[in-house]
Amino acid sequence: MLEFRNLTRAYELGGERAGVFDVSLQVPKGCLAVLAGPSGSGKTTLLQLAGLLDTPDEGEVLLDGESVSTLPERARCDLRLRRMGFVFQAFNLVPVLSALENVMLPLQFQGTPETEARQRAEMALDRVGLADRRHHRPGQLSGGQQQRAAIARALAPDPLLVLADEPTASLDHAHGGPLMDLMAELATERGVTFLVASHDPAVIARAHQVFRLRDGRLAEAS
Ligand SMILES: Nc1ncnc2c1ncn2[C@@H]1O[C@H](COP(=O)(O)OP(=O)(O)OP(=O)(O)O)[C@@H](O)[C@H]1O
Ligand SMILES: [Mg+2]
Repeated sequence: MLEFRNLTRAYELGGERAGVFDVSLQVPKGCLAVLAGPSGSGKTTLLQLAGLLDTPDEGEVLLDGESVSTLPERARCDLRLRRMGFVFQAFNLVPVLSALENVMLPLQFQGTPETEARQRAEMALDRVGLADRRHHRPGQLSGGQQQRAAIARALAPDPLLVLADEPTASLDHAHGGPLMDLMAELATERGVTFLVASHDPAVIARAHQVFRLRDGRLAEAS
């Protein structure tokens, strides 16, 4: 389970104060939660706090009941590598590597032996429906296929938490819905917590939980 307790991260710029303020929420295991809200409402700021890429001014992030936001950098790095997966708007696949090699990367960073990494990466690609595209490089895949490869890469290390920032933003409407269906299925099937930032109605429609932000504050939870 992921929990935010009274999180505040303020940015002061030119006399203006922006960021996120006093946000508390809980996302259970196996749940696909969406952070919704207009541009500038604080979605990416919250994802960065959840992903331990940034530290709050006040409050804390808890993962499975353990406060993790103030751990030393080395421990945070280790948690990111072993317990978290990231899916970005622009996929961030390595262009010179095949889909299979891309999915193997985080496993190899963790020190998983080559044969096991290959097996697990093949299983992950199979699960997202890309088994027959495993030797293609990102440039040889469609946008939807690249995004599924990115999801396989995030899931291959068996994370507790997957964070996705606008994962459907570079896909057309026909691909956004099925991609979210896949994420919702994976959340339930693997018991992984998904936290997705998006203002795409197709994404919000498939969420198990929706948190709406306005001006950095939690305006509504449903
Ligand atoms: N590094 C920074 N320095 C100063 N202000 C920042 C910084 N990062 C974000 N902000 C401000 O914090 C607020 C929240 O930004 P954030 O990126 O979290 O919004 P968002 O909801 O992800 O928006 P979008 O939908 O456009 O991606 C904005 O007003 C933004 O200008
Ligand atoms: Mg954003």
